[in-house]
Amino acid sequence: MTVHSIALGSLPSSPEQARMWCARLEEGGILYFPETPVSFPAEDLEFLLSRRQTGSKLHKNIAYKPGRDRLSGLGRDESGSEEAGRLQAILRRYSSAVSAFLAGFLTPYGGRWRLDFASYRPIEEKGRDLPLRRRNDLLHTDAFPTRPTRGARILRFFNNINPSQTRNWVVSEPFARLLGAFTPGKLALPRAADPLSRAARHIACATGLGALVPRWKRTPYDEFMMQLHNVMKEDADFQTTCAKEFVEFAPGSSWMVYTETASHAVLSGQYALEQTFLVDPSVMVIPGSAPVAVLEKMAGEKLT
Ligand SMILES: [Fe+2]
Repeated sequence: MTVHSIALGSLPSSPEQARMWCARLEEGGILYFPETPVSFPAEDLEFLLSRRQTGSKLHKNIAYKPGRDRLSGLGRDESGSEEAGRLQAILRRYSSAVSAFLAGFLTPYGGRWRLDFASYRPIEEKGRDLPLRRRNDLLHTDAFPTRPTRGARILRFFNNINPSQTRNWVVSEPFARLLGAFTPGKLALPRAADPLSRAARHIACATGLGALVPRWKRTPYDEFMMQLHNVMKEDADFQTTCAKEFVEFAPGSSWMVYTETASHAVLSGQYALEQTFLVDPSVMVIPGSAPVAVLEKMAGEKLT
């Protein structure tokens, strides 16, 4: 069973339960809260959902960068608007509410994560016209093209804020089986970087050249995870024949999952919020469960 349902009434978790929830995540499971444990001001929700009536220009996916308190994805004429300011304030509140909840829920991690971007996703996922590698409706594991994690795990927390429609995912094989399906036949295992590549990466990161050519910033681990994301989406046979489990997230629910290892696709749904955390792989309650550890064991070399 991939989905583990958690009732609000069972919170807060005991230390033993908290370790168990971490373990379920690390194994590739989804922790699902039929009722969200994150509270929103009603006016924030109303504002986000009201965009559909007004035909607002902000009716598209927007990212919020908590570290810099900045919104991205806006056009030049939208950035200073009152509407953009309101959206920024809402995402700032959302980001800190989710962070506060996770700090008290995933206690075994002791907050050893970096707060990454939050996002508002008001676009209907079904039927989106996107290039193949950017499609969300094909099974994949997450990797960020321009922001390599260097081994940190990608934990994502979602809220379905749609008042009436479920958000519909499909999930597939656990990470170990994915690796078995794709390596070494379709995708070579990563190898440690040679000294020249390591030096080039340091220069790219130190000089800002990595912003021009994101690939230069990637460690062998990041490069492998990016390629895995791509080959999964490009493999029509895998997409058709792999084991699938369909999951419906109810209106008003929340869920979280390590999306760099749990293969997933979004089939349909509109209006979601999301906050990403980059979790230190050394704090896993199942030692060796992080993909960087799995891959380094297979490769017999350091990959970050
Ligand atoms: Fe994804």
